[in-house]
Amino acid sequence: MAGGSRWTASLLAVWRITSPGSLPRALAFLIAGVLFWVMGSASVGHSPNVIVSGHTGGVFSTSLHAHALWLAAGDAAAPPSAAVEAAFRAARRTLKPDNSSYLALCLHVKDEHDSIREWVLYHHMIGVNKFYVFDDYSAPPMQGVLSDLIEAGLVDYTFAMGQLPGPTEGANKQDQAYNYCLRKHGQNHKYMGFIDTDEFVMLMRRYSTLPELLRDYEDSSGLVLYIVDFGPSGHVARPAAGVLASYTKCTEKWRQGGYGKSFVQPAKTRAMARVHRGHYTQGHAVDVWRRKYDGPTTAGNRTDDERAMIFHYRTKSAEDWQKRDRKGTSGTGGPTKPLSVFQTVDKWADQVCLEGTEQAARLRAAFGPLLRAPRRQDGLT
Ligand SMILES: *[C@@H]1O[C@H](CO)[C@@H](O)[C@H](O)[C@H]1NC(C)=O
Ligand SMILES: *[C@@H]1O[C@H](CO)[C@@H](O)[C@H](O)[C@H]1NC(C)=O
Repeated sequence: MAGGSRWTASLLAVWRITSPGSLPRALAFLIAGVLFWVMGSASVGHSPNVIVSGHTGGVFSTSLHAHALWLAAGDAAAPPSAAVEAAFRAARRTLKPDNSSYLALCLHVKDEHDSIREWVLYHHMIGVNKFYVFDDYSAPPMQGVLSDLIEAGLVDYTFAMGQLPGPTEGANKQDQAYNYCLRKHGQNHKYMGFIDTDEFVMLMRRYSTLPELLRDYEDSSGLVLYIVDFGPSGHVARPAAGVLASYTKCTEKWRQGGYGKSFVQPAKTRAMARVHRGHYTQGHAVDVWRRKYDGPTTAGNRTDDERAMIFHYRTKSAEDWQKRDRKGTSGTGGPTKPLSVFQTVDKWADQVCLEGTEQAARLRAAFGPLLRAPRRQDGLT
């Protein structure tokens, strides 16, 4: 098929549509970024290690200046009705933040404003009651779109410019953030998980929450869930319905070999290595069939009931891919992703996986009003 030229044409079309508007936006981001940097440096005395924590005040206020220049799409247009505000408040009261949650997730992000809420709320729905978000210098800071969840205590937010303090462990910024998270917060949780915003834990029927699954594996130091990739599923523009509801075309399991993500017991874990694996002080990690997990090369036989997997929305839409491509190396790993990878995943994703769409419906029922960022993004609503 003429897939290559089709996608190139689509990408060019997206480029033409988005380019005129993105120039002023890019300029605003640039100015905000410079302002932010200058103010941040000024207030911390040019320290090379700048962490702006969501709970400490101080230089935190500079982020308010930066993201005041930015409005979420649609914010300026229609102010929500009293009914919408009431639904939002009611949904907020159903959140169950817990600083000693059985399972916490550590997340390293950059410029994921559009998808972060769906990711957090989905994993909250399946039993994660604490999230540590390390924002790698997003422009504007992602604190804005998370303000209500930070205020509720569900999300612990750190804006990190440069290195995190303490001994740096790991090959890249993501690894370092994971190890910092493990050292700083590990003692408060039985389990910690390390996945990305384009990865959703999918429980395959037998379990309704992730802690329920992990409780069956407490005798091992960690549980590794295998990854299955998703392609664009025909989407050129970013679909408004969100990730879970929109992408249904997945690859066959063997394509990703034994790549997995780890949920570790901090009490038995020395460090995280190369994002995917834990180094344990005792014992080892297993997969859902209790087979010792040695790394991506040991894919093994996965014909049985898989219990849980990581749905990896690898490409998302052509528009998402193009934005990510322009973003380039973000510290979340790797160089810019070429179009050919997009095309390959699209070609490989010849299976249909509908579990995500079922979960999307469940998520809308549980936290629907919260899926959209709060209108006031300064946390003062
Ligand atoms: C929970 O942690 C947050 C920081 O993420 C903190 O602001 C809050 O006060 C803590 N809540 C309790 C009850 O300790
Ligand atoms: C692997 O495959 C064999 C035969 O196809 C099956 O009997 C076995 O239970 C499978 N599962 C695991 C986890 O080894």
